[in-house]
Amino acid sequence: MKKRMMDILSFLFCSLLFWINIARAENVCSRPELGDLVQVKDLQRYFSAGVVLALSCAPGHTPYNGPRTIVCTNTGQWTKTKFTCKPVECSSPDAPVNGQMHYEDLLYQSVVNFTCDDGYILTGASSASCLIDGSWSVQEPQCKPVSCGPAPIPEFGMIIYDKIIRGNNIYYGTSGTYKCLAPLALFGEERAECRANGQWTETPQCQEVSCSPPENIENGVMSIPQKRDFEYTETIKYGCNGDYVLHGPLQIVCEKTGQWSEKPSCKAPCSVGIQFGRIMYKGKTLWMEDFKPNIVLHGETVSVYCLDKDRNCEYAFPTNCFDGLLSVPECFEEPSRSQVSSSNPTEMSQC
Ligand SMILES: *[C@@H]1O[C@H](CO)[C@@H](O)[C@H](O)[C@H]1NC(C)=O
Repeated sequence: MKKRMMDILSFLFCSLLFWINIARAENVCSRPELGDLVQVKDLQRYFSAGVVLALSCAPGHTPYNGPRTIVCTNTGQWTKTKFTCKPVECSSPDAPVNGQMHYEDLLYQSVVNFTCDDGYILTGASSASCLIDGSWSVQEPQCKPVSCGPAPIPEFGMIIYDKIIRGNNIYYGTSGTYKCLAPLALFGEERAECRANGQWTETPQCQEVSCSPPENIENGVMSIPQKRDFEYTETIKYGCNGDYVLHGPLQIVCEKTGQWSEKPSCKAPCSVGIQFGRIMYKGKTLWMEDFKPNIVLHGETVSVYCLDKDRNCEYAFPTNCFDGLLSVPECFEEPSRSQVSSSNPTEMSQC
């Protein structure tokens, strides 16, 4: 009986302790679970009911949503909040003119690098970082063009710039053309350009050139006043004797190499190798007997008349004079002498 009494008492005692513990647990809050960037002052292990915590953000971050406080309630739970922290964002910087910028993002502590295009030099800071207040640590730099200075001029030469130049600052991309004073010839690159490395392209040279008097061409004549040496770019004209025809350029020029440009040639006339028969020359049909002188110039065309025996008609077959050579087409047959003297050259029927 005594034992039973003890059991009941100990049961009541334990129950009491249990309920006290529950009550205690319900009256404290454990550490609130907040995002990494959310900060709270005086963080303890337990907080008693009624404690109010003010939330803030780590440096370089701005608060987002609310409420900005949480309260430990009697049930041991913190009140709810949607409070979060976002990193500060800097505004997008402008890329320098004739340059570029490189960055991964524009958040607090990000770095933007600046570079200049070829031929431009960076003046100012080459990078900027995003500060806590959302501004950039430095202003964006400038990209200034490289200056080459005036182009070197060859002796007895000059340069003509492609645009008007003011002062001695001649910048990357400026170009021009070299010229030599007559009668000198230019050796090297005629065009000049201020390059990205601040150097001009190579300077050419102006040198004297002479060509010895040229030879005449076969069956030709040349406009050469006297036998003398000729200067660079001087010209001489050629012509041909009699019925020879000039083939190629009308004149030759003294070149940089001290040689003359390619000479023309005189091409020989032809004669038509037919005794009897009819031909067509310059649109006229005539008997060979009447074709006097028997000369066809180089490049000209003569047609002979060939007979189509099956159809009993004839057709004109053309052939060309090339430098004294004129072949008679195979279809041509010489007519008999009686045919020649008795008929008019145009009266046969054409095919
Ligand atoms: C900026 O330049 C630094 C130093 O040269 C380099 O380490 C970094 O990767 C660059 N950042 C970007 C985004 O190009």
